Amino acid sequence: MTSSKKGRKQAKHKRDAADRVVIFDTTLRDGEQSPGASMTLSEKLQVAELLDEMGVDIIEAGFPIASNGDFQAVNEIAKIASNAVVCGLARAGAKDIDRAGEALKPAKRSRIHTFISTSPVHMKYKLQMEPGDVLAAVTSSVQLARKWTDDVEWSPEDATRTDPDFLCRCVEAAIKAGAGTINIPDTVGYTVPQEYHALISMLREKVPGADKVVFSTHCHDDLGLAVANSLAGVAAGARQVECTINGIGERAGNAALEEVHMAIDTRNDVLPYWTSIDAAYITRASKIVSAVTAFPVQYNKAIVGKNAFAHESGIHQDGMLKHTETYEIMTPESIGLKESALVMGKHSGRHAFREKLKELGYELGDNALQDAFQRFKDLADKKKHVFDEDIEALVDDELATANDRIKVVALTVIAGTSGPQKATITLEVDAKHHTREATGDGPVDATFNAIKAIVPHEARLPLYQVHAVTEGTDAQAEVSVRLEENGKSVIGRGADTDTMVASARAYVSALNKLLVKREKSAPEKMLAS
Ligand code: KIV
Ligand code: ZN
Repeated sequence: MTSSKKGRKQAKHKRDAADRVVIFDTTLRDGEQSPGASMTLSEKLQVAELLDEMGVDIIEAGFPIASNGDFQAVNEIAKIASNAVVCGLARAGAKDIDRAGEALKPAKRSRIHTFISTSPVHMKYKLQMEPGDVLAAVTSSVQLARKWTDDVEWSPEDATRTDPDFLCRCVEAAIKAGAGTINIPDTVGYTVPQEYHALISMLREKVPGADKVVFSTHCHDDLGLAVANSLAGVAAGARQVECTINGIGERAGNAALEEVHMAIDTRNDVLPYWTSIDAAYITRASKIVSAVTAFPVQYNKAIVGKNAFAHESGIHQDGMLKHTETYEIMTPESIGLKESALVMGKHSGRHAFREKLKELGYELGDNALQDAFQRFKDLADKKKHVFDEDIEALVDDELATANDRIKVVALTVIAGTSGPQKATITLEVDAKHHTREATGDGPVDATFNAIKAIVPHEARLPLYQVHAVTEGTDAQAEVSVRLEENGKSVIGRGADTDTMVASARAYVSALNKLLVKREKSAPEKMLAS
């Protein structure tokens, strides 16, 4: 059961500028660094656009020196961001910083975030540098970054395992060189709230010039303390929190944006701060990031988990019916979660469909609208109830595959207890049809083998995932497939009421993305002769 009562009135503090917590989102940089979470350029743009709209102050769009793809993503996001500052990450060297500066050129407002390790273990084994040389690099890197932009952030990587006196000297050097934001990363998720609070307090008290800069938190979740540590940092005077949607990021992830914001918003009586986030975007942002990375959101995840607002037990349901505040500390509406709405049926017209898309936040051109409307009609023929989630899955699928050069035309699968399972597939490749038949260990394997017979490749398939878009046996299946080739990873998605068709679409969508990654190779070269 999901409640649908209006938002509660919280005791909100007056919004003083001094209490404003800047939200620095690193979904597209630290988040994308999680193994397997790579996104395409258009997916990154889609996420960036939403972050910009939802009120994120700074979007860390990537690490421009890391690859041409990262450079391009930062560069394109710099062109489209209208509210947020766009940030690029750079190590302490000139090549990194200049590459970040170049990528950020089109931005209305840009920031370079430069970092170097300061802990004994990182300096000795990773950098193989003496502390004195690290200190000198702090100054030179910040000075160089300032040649590109006035907005420079500096981070001592592994700050929470750094000798406090050396940390103070490095922070002082960064401030003197012109950094306006000092980020204190708990790179390995090692600290605990009271320790992190003490560290930020100590830096703010001891370091000359600390009162002129903004301190920032960057906490990893290895001990499940990333959000608690971030809030402890804010209580100690940090006024920027680095976080990601759904908490994705290296290893156990980063502090989750939605948790940081909702904790501040819901417990404003004891956390008297504010952010510029419009919480109504949280559900959509969570869904998009989960879809493009194929990282499912854990059912009991705070704020955005499927069960976060579900009340199953009889006692809880009874309480909720009497008064929603019995078991609900925030409303589903406040994070943009709506009751699953029965939308339309097969008699709904194009106008109603366009209005529904608008309500769900989509604006399609005439051709894309026509294609999506046709797919909606087909779906309404097969499925009794078409919900908002069905429309979202269908349109996301349509948008993701609109420019694909390889398309699924037809699929027939023979499955069941008496094998071998067999699939016959027809693919359109640059307007030419190709048909192949294959067997396999099960219908999915047979389908993928048939596709591979038309498009031979050596890519590995480390992930195949199915989830039902809505409830019921006629629900659409949404399939995610990850393919890896030469260290590059792509995610394909497909939706259909037939799980095999959705699987074929997802596999073909991943192949299309591999083609884009290969850039120069034409699809014909992938085809079997
Ligand atoms: O976790 C970390 O230390 C980082 C830095 C690059 C800020 O991500
Ligand atoms: Zn990090």
